[in-house]
Amino acid sequence: MSSLSVNHLLGIKYINKNDIELILDTAQNFKEVINRPIKKVPSLRDITVANLFFENSTRTKLSFELAQKRLSADTVNFAASSSSVKKGETLVDTVNNILAMKVDMVVMRHANPGAAVFLAKRVKSKIINAGDGAHEHPTQALLDAFSIREKLGTLKGKKIVIVGDILHSRVALSNIFCLQKMGAEVKVCGPQTLIPKHIESLGVKVELNLRKALEWCDVANMLRIQLERQDIKYFPSLREYSMLYGLNKELLDSLSKRILIMHPGPINRGVEITSDVADSDQSIILEQVENGVAVRMAVMFLLAGRIN
Ligand code: CP
Repeated sequence: MSSLSVNHLLGIKYINKNDIELILDTAQNFKEVINRPIKKVPSLRDITVANLFFENSTRTKLSFELAQKRLSADTVNFAASSSSVKKGETLVDTVNNILAMKVDMVVMRHANPGAAVFLAKRVKSKIINAGDGAHEHPTQALLDAFSIREKLGTLKGKKIVIVGDILHSRVALSNIFCLQKMGAEVKVCGPQTLIPKHIESLGVKVELNLRKALEWCDVANMLRIQLERQDIKYFPSLREYSMLYGLNKELLDSLSKRILIMHPGPINRGVEITSDVADSDQSIILEQVENGVAVRMAVMFLLAGRIN
């Protein structure tokens, strides 16, 4: 099988195991390309991509831009803060105007959950969701899956705990869908107030004790506390959060086995993870970022194959 079952990447919920395997295998080839002295291939030289970021981003935005350059695509970048959205233009009008300039593919980050699905139903373009509110962040989950597979050989049967602010996290939801489709076991860990009430209906187990969760897992994915999405206080203080759910070197070194440490970024050093853990040889945080370029190259290359 060499093509995706979908025309857009809106979320991991909408793709199947074959799609995920195809993206990861294609990304493996692109990882070899970007480690060559000449990092560029002509694969998307006839494609134009618009990067629409309505919300802040460092990793995802730069990673998509670099992936487009490595594939020889033409790109245009759009920042909501300096656009006519500020004058009251709708999302659909904005995107249709950009598409009128012969753009083939749209990468969009938006603060509203469902924004990418909404757009895909209303405009004639390939849409890639680069994170929509607290809903999904599919390319983050794919690069996380790629990074785990690269380190552990497979995802099947591996135990992954996602720690922290699960309630406000698009990374958590996309990771849960992706890891489960690939045969991994997933637990979530964090303060009860930051665990969604019905999360167990997704086939995920809940562990409120961080040490027990870490003793169980092969990989710990430490999430950032998303203060910008929290309208009320979910725990007394960051200091208390960090005492109960922060990972420090003493705790990591006291575990009975060696686990991998991941973080999607941006890191709040000293809150969810201490610097000596983030920078330790068990951390694959920067490898996740490196792999993000190859994974995004694979996603755009495979979706472009469906442009006619
Ligand atoms: N991981 C992630 O999405 O980071 P950015 O918000 O910097 O893109």
